[in-house]
Amino acid sequence: MTHKMSICLIVLQFCFLLLLDQTEAKVSAVIVFGDSSVDAGNNDYIHTIGRSNFPPYGRDFYGGKPTGRFCNGRLSTDFISEAFGIKPVIPAYLDPAYTIKDFATGVTFASAGTGLDNVTSDLVSVIPFWKEIEYFKEYKKKLTIFMGAYKTNVLLREAFYILSIGTNDFLENYYQVPTRSSHYTVDEYENFLLGLMSNFVWDIYKLGARKIALTSFTAFGCLPLVRTENFLEGRACNEDYNKVARELNVKLNTLIIKLNKELKGIKVVYSGVYDTLVDAIQKPSSYGFENVANGCCGTGLFETSILCNKWDSKTCKDASKYIFWDSIHYSEKMNKVVSDHAMKTAFVPFL
Ligand SMILES: *[C@@H]1O[C@H](CO)[C@@H](O)[C@H](O)[C@H]1NC(C)=O
Repeated sequence: MTHKMSICLIVLQFCFLLLLDQTEAKVSAVIVFGDSSVDAGNNDYIHTIGRSNFPPYGRDFYGGKPTGRFCNGRLSTDFISEAFGIKPVIPAYLDPAYTIKDFATGVTFASAGTGLDNVTSDLVSVIPFWKEIEYFKEYKKKLTIFMGAYKTNVLLREAFYILSIGTNDFLENYYQVPTRSSHYTVDEYENFLLGLMSNFVWDIYKLGARKIALTSFTAFGCLPLVRTENFLEGRACNEDYNKVARELNVKLNTLIIKLNKELKGIKVVYSGVYDTLVDAIQKPSSYGFENVANGCCGTGLFETSILCNKWDSKTCKDASKYIFWDSIHYSEKMNKVVSDHAMKTAFVPFL
């Protein structure tokens, strides 16, 4: 008797969970802002050399197609969209092959080479960050025409927003040209960037966003290109850069606590990637990686964008054994590691 009872209870509990699952608000779309870590090809439609819409980029993507993703395959945001049960790839907003109907379930406004700071995007003639937010406003208008104001507001409220940006503000801008470094200390520049991130959250909140993930700064001192610049120390990671990333991440955590208090009904999460990269570098075999310090493309020491091309015979055979696809960007395998980690930790509140 008791035995039967407990089976019933288990079954009931199961039904209850199923019901909950159906009624609970789910993520309606994944909407992405940022740089090359999450650009799916917006740069293909602007005048810039900061592109990757040629082989061997995309060689492990659907149909081996180079889309403008700085990767051999999919990006972490593609995997995240798939994990939320939406769609396996997030299209670029400027790609004319897609319509507002496609973008309604997810879109990326990101542009390779851009940064939070206007100076960064100006240096390489890519989409400035403020313009990504303008595109989002235009997107909202198009959605309203497509599905009406009510449905648009529901969609934007239930959508999941991901920001992945900031490395270029240091690597292209602060450490390369004096425009900012002659006026700001590292600490001041960190605060400036975090202020811009805060403005971003306020801006999209006012436009209806409620579920937001701010991607942490990665250990950018360990990017293959940065290691190459550090040849005097045998291509070790640049620990000064990694320290800056850690400082930024401490400040980012504080900012997130503040935003969650200030903005009613918002849920902002910190999506940590720094530790994920360091762990993969320290214990590559537990992820199936064999190379942690070079890109797969070319010699792996410096190639990215036009320098990573099909005329280079040195490109590795199996990119899944590499953390990095080119000298700056993760391989598809690493993007999967990053997204799996986020789904199991930071993004749990949105499942
Ligand atoms: C960046 O440029 C835009 C457009 O010119 C401007 O509205 C914005 O204030 C600038 N941002 C900063 C931080 O200078």
